[in-house]
Amino acid sequence: MIQQNEWNDITIRTLKAGDENLINDFFDRMGGESRALFNRRDYNRRGVLKQCTKPLSDRCYWLAILDGAMVGYVFYLDWDTGVPELGIAVRDDLRGQRLGKRLMMYAIDEAKMHGKGGIYLTTHTANLRGQALYDAMGFTCMGVAKNGTELMYLYRFRNNESII
Ligand SMILES: CC(C)(COP(=O)(O)OP(=O)(O)OC[C@H]1O[C@@H](n2cnc3c(N)ncnc32)[C@H](O)[C@@H]1OP(=O)(O)O)[C@@H](O)C(=O)NCCC(=O)NCCS
Repeated sequence: MIQQNEWNDITIRTLKAGDENLINDFFDRMGGESRALFNRRDYNRRGVLKQCTKPLSDRCYWLAILDGAMVGYVFYLDWDTGVPELGIAVRDDLRGQRLGKRLMMYAIDEAKMHGKGGIYLTTHTANLRGQALYDAMGFTCMGVAKNGTELMYLYRFRNNESII
């Protein structure tokens, strides 16, 4: 598990209007691997930018801020369901330092606090970093999605599970 003193210097906060420059800087720094696995055709950049200007009530986004820059984010689609869909990304130069775990723990706690039944997500079959993170956090791989390129992951909360 993550050590308690890890990433204590970051702030995790809700996305707000005016965050566009932080977001664009985050995505501009993304290298080829992350773009291919996470941000094909700028899909996720457009999603989070749109949420700044025209927020949808069935979505939640949280940004991780370090030294005034966005270093990661985590979000839910279908937040109005019992099992929302999660997305997550960490700035390329900070990958592999357990910031993904930190953000994931935050998002899991939010879902539990809001009475959700679990979390669903998909990830590219080639996204070994993502799969390692989801395995480490207790997700179960449910198999390959119909499109043949995405794995489906599910984390079902148990009644007695506490906030992390
Ligand atoms: C996927 C992503 C969010 C993971 O975050 P991260 O901060 O890099 O991951 P962490 O450092 O928290 O690592 C989580 C676990 O995965 C393991 N891991 C990390 N990188 C790994 C790698 N390249 N290969 C195998 N395992 C890896 C870690 O060892 C850790 O497990 P442990 O604590 O039991 O050792 C991040 O790499 C990322 O943003 N990638 C680009 C965007 C993306 O792919 N998003 C997900 C789309 S579904």
